[in-house]
Amino acid sequence: MKLQLLSFLSVHLLLLLSVPASSSPCHFPAVFNLGDSNSDTGGLSATFGPLTYPYGESLFGKPAGRYSDGRLIIDFIAESLGLPYISAYLDSMGTNFSHGANFATALSTILPQNITLSQGGYSPFSLDVQLKQFLQFKSRSQMIYNEGGIYKDLIPKEEYFSRALYTFDIGQNDLTAFYFLNESTEEYIPNALKEFFRVVKSIYEEGGRSFWIHNTGPLGCLPYVLVQGHLAPSDLDSAGCAIRYNKLAQEFNRMLNDTVAQLRKDLPLAAFTLVDMYSIKYLLVSQATKQGFVLPFRACCGYGGGVYNYNSNFRCGDMAKVNGTMILLGKSCRNPRKRINWDGVHYTEAANRWVFNQISRGAFSDPAMPLSMACHRKTPTK
Ligand SMILES: *[C@@H]1O[C@H](CO)[C@@H](O)[C@H](O)[C@H]1NC(C)=O
Ligand SMILES: *[C@@H]1O[C@H](CO)[C@@H](O)[C@H](O)[C@H]1NC(C)=O
Ligand SMILES: *[C@@H]1O[C@H](CO)[C@@H](O)[C@H](O)[C@H]1NC(C)=O
Ligand SMILES: *[C@@H]1O[C@H](CO)[C@@H](O)[C@H](O)[C@H]1NC(C)=O
Ligand SMILES: *[C@@H]1O[C@H](CO)[C@@H](O)[C@H](O)[C@H]1NC(C)=O
Repeated sequence: MKLQLLSFLSVHLLLLLSVPASSSPCHFPAVFNLGDSNSDTGGLSATFGPLTYPYGESLFGKPAGRYSDGRLIIDFIAESLGLPYISAYLDSMGTNFSHGANFATALSTILPQNITLSQGGYSPFSLDVQLKQFLQFKSRSQMIYNEGGIYKDLIPKEEYFSRALYTFDIGQNDLTAFYFLNESTEEYIPNALKEFFRVVKSIYEEGGRSFWIHNTGPLGCLPYVLVQGHLAPSDLDSAGCAIRYNKLAQEFNRMLNDTVAQLRKDLPLAAFTLVDMYSIKYLLVSQATKQGFVLPFRACCGYGGGVYNYNSNFRCGDMAKVNGTMILLGKSCRNPRKRINWDGVHYTEAANRWVFNQISRGAFSDPAMPLSMACHRKTPTK
């Protein structure tokens, strides 16, 4: 207890020390997001078919294109900046881009993959495609804005593009993609991060100045990996996560850290915040009870019971014919608010909120600045 208080205090001290006295809140007028299912607010769903009940049950009361029972971290980010939820670029109905656009889709990767979605593979909207969509959004939206009329209200002002917060959460699917392709990490991860660098640089060249980058979470703590990863008890760490998969995530994160350091050098007019999602999520899973949660490895919504409650043939929301009647097999748990994992792959709204509360204060960020200050550059270290 005392130790906890001490570290709590030191984080705040750190915050005080690292924020220049002259710094004022950034007032981001818009958020543009690139990523995968961790931040997809409806892109894949609008394109390839909607998610089904009980997705969205906790907040929206209906599936809302999000891979959770409610809000994602990107939704909490938008709320805390005083902005509406960020509409998916691919969603053509009821969307309003006046304060940003979301290019993320579930199953997106940094490097384009050869296995298509219909073959059980990945989203066609890999990071290069998301960049193309952003560039087109930026140029065409200004044409539309200048034409005025009924669409003007749905489009960000030109000045928003340089004042916006650009957020990234991508890489997790690259790890599973190349792991199952038997490619060597020595080649794949550096190539993926070269591509990540190119995409960020392109946005910088378009005027982007504030970048908020999530590293990748502990892949080896997710039920779907624990079920499908061919693991023996000795493959698990003391918390119950798969060591091999977490090592992979950490290797990616180390190289991402180097990439962000290089971005800071090469793009001196921009502010980069690297958020250590791995450590926060690992902390949550390994200290679940202490943080007010139960059953950290058990999918709230799924089928099969047991430690993981995950079955790749009957997932959250899946129906099946039992004794001649269609029934919902992939059902939700009684109290999602107490649970960390939603569907075996993604986090619950309660977990997303917990993680957001940590990252918004800057406790797990480099530099250690709160979200509202993320337009301020890190003081160069000598
Ligand atoms: C996809 O296939 C092409 C041609 O065979 C190959 O060069 C490329 O590396 C493959 N991409 C991935 C991600 O496996
Ligand atoms: C779009 O959202 C903005 C900001 O919330 C709002 O001012 C505007 O009226 C909305 N446009 C439409 C057509 O709903
Ligand atoms: C990867 O290697 C394993 C065992 O070495 C093999 O069973 C599997 O078919 C390989 N996968 C691919 C996509 O080559
Ligand atoms: C990330 O890189 C910085 C140097 O840019 C270093 O100080 C820091 O310890 C690194 N963090 C991790 C988690 O590797
Ligand atoms: C299906 O029918 C069998 C035989 O009547 C019964 O034992 C079983 O419990 C039924 N399954 C369900 C899910 O109702």
